[in-house]
Amino acid sequence: MLKIALVFLTGLFFLSLRPYCCGCSNILVVPMDGSHWINMEIILRELHIRGHNITVIHSAKSWYIPNNSTFYTSITRRMMEDEADKNFYNKMVLKVMECRKSWTFMHTFCQNDLIGSMLGQGNKILAGATAEILDDPVFIKKLQDTKFDLMLTDPGLPIGALLGSYLKLPMVFNVRWINTGEAHFTIAPSPLSYVPVSGSELSDQMDFLERTKNLLHYLHNLAQQHFIINPHYSDLLQRHFPPGSDLMSLQLAADIWLIRTDFVFEFPRPTMPNVVYIGGFQCKEAHPLPAELEDFMQSSGDHGVVFMSLGTLVSALSCETMEAIAAAFARLPQKVLWKFVGEKPSSLGNNTLLVKWLPQNDVLGHPKTRAFVAHGGTNGMYEAIYHGVPVVGLPLFFDQFDNILRLKVRGAARMVEAGSLTEESFLEALKDVLETPSYSNNMKRLSQLHQDLPMSPMDTAVFWIEYVIRNKGAAHLQAAGFSLPWYSYFCLDVAVFFIIITAAAIWASVTAYRNLFCHKSRRKRKAE
Ligand SMILES: *[C@@H]1O[C@H](CO)[C@@H](O)[C@H](O)[C@H]1NC(C)=O
Ligand SMILES: *[C@@H]1O[C@H](CO)[C@@H](O)[C@H](O)[C@H]1NC(C)=O
Ligand SMILES: *[C@@H]1O[C@H](CO)[C@@H](O)[C@H](O)[C@H]1NC(C)=O
Ligand SMILES: *[C@@H]1O[C@H](CO)[C@@H](O)[C@H](O)[C@H]1NC(C)=O
Repeated sequence: MLKIALVFLTGLFFLSLRPYCCGCSNILVVPMDGSHWINMEIILRELHIRGHNITVIHSAKSWYIPNNSTFYTSITRRMMEDEADKNFYNKMVLKVMECRKSWTFMHTFCQNDLIGSMLGQGNKILAGATAEILDDPVFIKKLQDTKFDLMLTDPGLPIGALLGSYLKLPMVFNVRWINTGEAHFTIAPSPLSYVPVSGSELSDQMDFLERTKNLLHYLHNLAQQHFIINPHYSDLLQRHFPPGSDLMSLQLAADIWLIRTDFVFEFPRPTMPNVVYIGGFQCKEAHPLPAELEDFMQSSGDHGVVFMSLGTLVSALSCETMEAIAAAFARLPQKVLWKFVGEKPSSLGNNTLLVKWLPQNDVLGHPKTRAFVAHGGTNGMYEAIYHGVPVVGLPLFFDQFDNILRLKVRGAARMVEAGSLTEESFLEALKDVLETPSYSNNMKRLSQLHQDLPMSPMDTAVFWIEYVIRNKGAAHLQAAGFSLPWYSYFCLDVAVFFIIITAAAIWASVTAYRNLFCHKSRRKRKAE
């Protein structure tokens, strides 16, 4: 009897160890290139381990997405990257610096205009690429015959959302941005009194002027979305989708939104039942460093190491700025590890090591790392939070200003303007972050909160992806509000109804009173 029970229990044990797999599904993936791919790849690896069959559609000229992967089947189509200009980001940085010289109230609008025109051009290319796919019956037939169970996509490129809708697949978004802006503003109610619009460089504590600015930013984005970005898709939607379809409603039909946000970082705000938060899901424990780097880290003694990296896409800072940074580093007692490509600055100190590439996560997780000098890309910020390393931010464009601001508000970062950076100002910020314990303590507190979860963000992501596959969608989590016209959404029709009733009642009583009064006074006159 005992034996049987034991066998049964061991059986149960092994069953529970076996990764749960819902019949091993076919998953179609349309990722985004660049740093977004890092976020997608890590989920795909996990899905592959759980036995799913993964097919990725990407550009043949993709910068990051390999076409010979061992864990997915690759289909190459023309996409954005084919026409993208590698120098684009450098030009963008220069334009943003130009914007930031103008009046503070205006420079965020100037930056927003840059992003708007970039999104306009990008979406024009994307709409063309999507039309090419939908107009190719052989390709579409091939996709239909494969019988995919799910579309997993980063809706920063709407190709995935459009293709998923067209193929009528259940859809999961791995998202922070959709093609028009921050995902929350599309999916969840966003009271502008305390939810800052992305790009506005505002926090959740806004005075009157700041709330005005926030509203203007919201309207600015809305105008860009309606007049610059989404019109590129109207022809495509007319030809391939039921009449009356628009891009926004196709995007809103996604079953689950895995939003790459954690409220340790993002300001708390309203959300929706089909939104799942997976911010920081790419973070992991640090592995030991290569021997050379480890020696360098140890050689820093008690002072520790400052780590600087400005991300993958940019090498646009001027020589003078680089020299100023190098000179400031040379005056620190710490050692400095600088991920650097290009010509070596002449003012480089002997405490600074330049490296072309290094394992960022492992360096941030190293006990000797004291501060992170970063441009404020989201992935880097979450890694810094995970490992509790305070940040000196040198934001260059896009959401980087907002990201650094979020850590600054929590007392875990300092921001330095790249455009007006001098040796002294940079050194002052560095020393402040290195020598004031509150920066490090605040960041450690964020790290602790970030990791205190019932289930890891990665397991959460995989659970919800498999949930959508198992249940063939999650329509029951969709809020009804999206299908309402705007005047019903805000109950304006009801408000108008009440105003009319009230006005009628007032009019009726006034008339009645006047009649009565006139009647009486007439009678009075008669009596006289
Ligand atoms: C996996 O997906 C590919 C399409 O990319 C398909 O050809 C293949 O049949 C699928 N394998 C299984 C086991 O379903
Ligand atoms: C994969 O990409 C390389 C270049 O990156 C190219 O030479 C090769 O032909 C591609 N292979 C396939 C199967 O598309
Ligand atoms: C894919 O191709 C690249 C070169 O094009 C090569 O370095 C890499 O090892 C290949 N990967 C696999 C998994 O075959
Ligand atoms: C590094 O430079 C400082 C002054 O710039 C000097 O005092 C020190 O000896 C140098 N250290 C080494 C190891 O060269």
